[in-house]
Amino acid sequence: VTRTKIPEGLKPLPGPKSLPLIGNVLELGSSPHLSLTAMSKQYGPVFQVQIGMRPVIVLAGNEVVRQALIKQGEEFAGRPDLYSFRFINEGKSLAFSTDKTGVWRTRRKLAQNALRSFSNIEGQSSEYSCALEEHISKEGLYLIQRLCSVMKTNGGFDPFRYIVVSVANVICGMCFGRRYSHDDTELLNLVNLSDEFNQVVGSGNPADFIPLLRLLPSTSMKKFLAINKRFNLFMQKLVKEHYDTFDKDNIRDITDSLIDHCEDRKLDENSNLQVSDEKIVSIVNDLFGAGFDTISTALSWAVVYLVAYPEIQERLHEELKEKVGMDRTPCLGDKTNLIYLEAFIAELFRHSSFLPFTIPHCSTKNTSLNGFFIPKDTCIFINQWQVNHDPETWKDPSSFNPDRFLTADGNELNKMEVEKVLIFGLGKRRCVGEGIARSEVFLFLAILIQRLQFSSMPGQMPDMTPEYGLTMKHKRCLLRTAPRPGFETSCA
Ligand code: HEM
Repeated sequence: VTRTKIPEGLKPLPGPKSLPLIGNVLELGSSPHLSLTAMSKQYGPVFQVQIGMRPVIVLAGNEVVRQALIKQGEEFAGRPDLYSFRFINEGKSLAFSTDKTGVWRTRRKLAQNALRSFSNIEGQSSEYSCALEEHISKEGLYLIQRLCSVMKTNGGFDPFRYIVVSVANVICGMCFGRRYSHDDTELLNLVNLSDEFNQVVGSGNPADFIPLLRLLPSTSMKKFLAINKRFNLFMQKLVKEHYDTFDKDNIRDITDSLIDHCEDRKLDENSNLQVSDEKIVSIVNDLFGAGFDTISTALSWAVVYLVAYPEIQERLHEELKEKVGMDRTPCLGDKTNLIYLEAFIAELFRHSSFLPFTIPHCSTKNTSLNGFFIPKDTCIFINQWQVNHDPETWKDPSSFNPDRFLTADGNELNKMEVEKVLIFGLGKRRCVGEGIARSEVFLFLAILIQRLQFSSMPGQMPDMTPEYGLTMKHKRCLLRTAPRPGFETSCA
């Protein structure tokens, strides 16, 4: 490893001593978000660990993270070339690949435009303000029916198992113009098997940093490759169907609009063709992949928190009764009135920090941060979990308390506090699905909390210890639910 000389006036990075070959892998342990938080207490908000042969810079604390991702955004917007990333979306992922800045920027704009236009278009029925609201609302009501029938036959339900199908259907509706049944085995096998994916892609997976480990037979790596393969086949089939039935005058969904973009571009003499058709159409893989697991994880955690904090669940239900009533389904427009639900969601994001690190970043040139020298192409972890549990920012950070996001009189949301929660990243790489994600989490929850009451199985509180990964999940569990008075029929 060649080291760039530290320019005058800049300091070398602090950090723990490391062993040859494995570096600090042992100290990282099985919960890197916790071990790296402890290290940032010892070494400060910018420090370096060695993962295998590779130096990794870890950023913590609101100030440093904002400085890097916003003020010096350009210098920190790259992605590192990690082994596991090469297999995601066949190495052509918008989120994980090392695309050059120009290519990435073009693809990111296309993704943003496609999401914007297909969530804001009119729904099929004038009852709804937009297609996104229609998709969520319908899937939410299906989900309730489904949960009730599972309760009747099994006496309990696994929250993630059912939520993930409903959430996948919303993004499937926008991307591919179709939905799947809760019993469709093709979809179920795909969306219910993301555990290995998350473990392998999580920040600090040793196989990304220690080449030798890739040669060892590893079951999780094998499963990871199999999941990627299955995912790609599923997507290829849907994309092919779209090419076969494509009609320029009837753009049905995001896939059609991406295909259309490729066609248009070829007619335009001035367009630069540095981004291949494949890289354009495969954007839909990223949107679908990022769009179901994250939101399902958030909602599944939400239901578990409702069960763990029954008094909070009652207060949320009371707010819905008062602000929306029991005669109509909640809608996106209710967001500004349901402030306790908004506070609950902010606290859910903060307390669970289920996306503990952003996707790893990489410096795009030699730079400095807080007086420390950072060479070009250095891998950078941004510890969102630490920012959300920093005692400098949060009073009693380990307690789950939505009230921390309300003003003292409890009548308003404290937006300044809400903005301190870091879960979608910041700056140039900030999540492109944030708007959709926030709408989905809000509306699914409003609909569920209005009509259903959730509880644990007798004597079986769900285990809330997160399992580390790109997204951290609670352990699979069984919960109970029953319709609220007046909603027995929505269960029939
Ligand atoms: C990137 C969080 C939902 C699409 C990211 C990143 C985070 C994140 C932390 C990485 C930011 C960084 O590297 O600095 C979340 C959370 C979600 C969510 C917490 C749900 C609660 C979605 C949805 C979509 C989506 C619904 C698509 C419809 C993407 C894409 C990227 C991304 C394409 C890559 C952006 C890039 O590399 O330029 N998200 N996300 N996400 N997200 Fe999300």
